[in-house]
Amino acid sequence: MSLWNKHQIFEKNSLILVIGVLIVISIGGLVEILPLYYLKSTIEKVEGMRPYSPLELAGRDIYVREGCYNCHSQMIRSLRDEVERYGHYSLAAESMYDKPFQWGSKRNGPDLARVGGKYSDAWHKDHLDNPRAMVPGSIMPAYPWLAKTALDYREIRSSMKVMALQGVPYTPEMIENAEKDLVAQASAESADVEAVLQRYPKAQARKFSGANGPVNEADALIAYLQMLGTLVDFKMYDGKANLR
Ligand code: HEC
Repeated sequence: MSLWNKHQIFEKNSLILVIGVLIVISIGGLVEILPLYYLKSTIEKVEGMRPYSPLELAGRDIYVREGCYNCHSQMIRSLRDEVERYGHYSLAAESMYDKPFQWGSKRNGPDLARVGGKYSDAWHKDHLDNPRAMVPGSIMPAYPWLAKTALDYREIRSSMKVMALQGVPYTPEMIENAEKDLVAQASAESADVEAVLQRYPKAQARKFSGANGPVNEADALIAYLQMLGTLVDFKMYDGKANLR
């Protein structure tokens, strides 16, 4: 029996074939998995990324609570049509502080990864109140209660602590000042804005919903929407060059 005929052993005995298949698959698996144990991080660092400010984090919680991810993705793929419509494709680092990530799997509405700065705060406020008022024929549900509901941020420190446990680099100082920073970012006139900006560079501070009174849920959600995709300076990258 030549060497090549020995293959019969596998073809005539299903148990040996199964064992052989398992061995081959596990070699493939090990080659893919083992290197990950020797890497500190699989995410390439990108300049500009920082943890969410307390107000943005509270807005993100509302985004999750209201199920916005059921219709909106936050992941621009590296395909020409997506890059031309939404901007530079998403980098892994851009969602490194998203726990859980908000990539989404459905796009009944547009991708929101770079929606920050695309519209005015007032547009967002009116759109959340009644999408049809801004985009006739929109199928997006209305969320009129957000601007009328005071933001409950009693748990914001705990939220940040949980994020820190998962590896988001919130410092004790950031957690200590969470409530103060949240109110300062949403009211803009306060002298504390300076401190917010120091802790959270590029944070935008203003009365997002335009409503007076205590910080409301729309303030937080709009603060979050307006920062999406604004942290990394993509003028340094030439997205289109990578599409050839
Ligand atoms: C049932 C699906 C659905 C849900 C749920 C939904 N949206 Fe939308 N959204 C849409 C559709 C469709 C559009 C496009 C038409 C429009 O602008 O209203 C849209 C548009 C948007 C836009 C404008 C995007 C752009 O680039 O023009 C924003 C911002 C937005 N949605 C935010 C939200 C937020 C925040 C929530 C959760 C509070 C949410 N959406 C929930 C379907 C949805």
